[in-house]
Amino acid sequence: MTESAAQAVDRLTRWAPDFPVPGVRFADLTPVFADAAGLDALVRPLAELAPDADVVAGIDARGFLIGGAVAVAKRCGVLAVRKSGKLPPPVIARRYALEYGTATLEIPADGIELRGRKVLLLDDVLATGGTLVAAAELLTDAGADVVTLAVVLELTALAGREKVERELPTVPLQSLVRI
Ligand code: PRP
Ligand code: MG
Repeated sequence: MTESAAQAVDRLTRWAPDFPVPGVRFADLTPVFADAAGLDALVRPLAELAPDADVVAGIDARGFLIGGAVAVAKRCGVLAVRKSGKLPPPVIARRYALEYGTATLEIPADGIELRGRKVLLLDDVLATGGTLVAAAELLTDAGADVVTLAVVLELTALAGREKVERELPTVPLQSLVRI
């Protein structure tokens, strides 16, 4: 029988207490991505989202894996939303708060025409929502139309959905698994 996303996440996720800082319980989906049935269980439902999207964006770094796989399944291109310092200038940037510290996301300011493009924005985990909101705002700054947000795993205790719905009230948020 084909495994569901929930079964794959339950079977393979590594839960790391106090990582990367004390008090944070980190959900590491690396073994789910590394498992053929596990990756398939994630990619199939994500690829059915946003049929109108013409590009998939994945957030550095774990979102690259799911973004690339879903882009191939949808026959779309994939845009890597990078953490700072990885892309040559010029870039468009957005700073944001993490569960631990702050970070900056960037995309190229030239070479990719995003105006009028419909984007399916993907990441592995939704925790506080800061990363997903910043990435969506960055793509919007670049002229894109972010049509759907999706994550594999939503950590409901951290209320990321509330932040996303407050700051991006018109963009639907899908999560395959909620814990
Ligand atoms: C993790 C995870 C999400 C983000 C969720 O990424 O992959 O991108 O945190 O947190 P938030 O909802 O509170 O913003 P992280 O920045 O740890 O780095 P990585 O993807 O490069 O491993
Ligand atoms: Mg990440």
